[in-house]
Amino acid sequence: MHDTDRDNYEPAPFLVENVALLPKGRVLDVAMGYGRNAIYLAGLGFQVDGVDISAEAVRYAGEAARKSGVSISVLAANLEGEYKIEKNGYDGIICFSYLQRSLIPQIKAGLRRGGVVVYETFLVDQAQWGKPKNPDYLLKHNELLEMFRNFRCLRYREGVFENGKDRRAIASIVAEKS
Ligand SMILES: C[S@@+](CC[C@H](N)C(=O)[O-])C[C@H]1O[C@@H](n2cnc3c(N)ncnc32)[C@H](O)[C@@H]1O
Repeated sequence: MHDTDRDNYEPAPFLVENVALLPKGRVLDVAMGYGRNAIYLAGLGFQVDGVDISAEAVRYAGEAARKSGVSISVLAANLEGEYKIEKNGYDGIICFSYLQRSLIPQIKAGLRRGGVVVYETFLVDQAQWGKPKNPDYLLKHNELLEMFRNFRCLRYREGVFENGKDRRAIASIVAEKS
């Protein structure tokens, strides 16, 4: 996955395109990896927390933020284990290229009223081209839309998107907790 390398700090295009829909305030980046999206948001004045299971990724993210002259709060923790998203703690929660279905209720509870989720990850169609192949980590068609059906949908797309040589089958949503 080329866009999540530690050498590539370009934020996700879907986040950049829709950042104006994120209320300014406290944002959580779940499974933040090397921090490309967290650092981008911090640079725009958001107060960003980032969590990832990889201690190495978390360390790199913190260092990269410092080098960029921004501050993010980072935590190495297992989203399937001890870590729980703070209830009503966030104005925004973002998640890119990571699917954990059991996390969706926590994301909803973690947002304040008026808070916004930005979620993008792979569809079942991705399996034909590469990773991930395990259906546990791939969205079914319309699944992401269904997951947030009690939120107000501000943007949704799903399909195959090409970016240079990179071709990815993904679904992406921006939705507001009303
Ligand atoms: C494909 S990367 C995406 C990183 C980042 N969201 C991005 O778009 O650049 C998936 C990330 O999920 C993290 N991850 C996998 N399982 C996890 C878990 N149980 N708890 C927290 N993070 C996890 C990995 O360490 C990895 O950094």
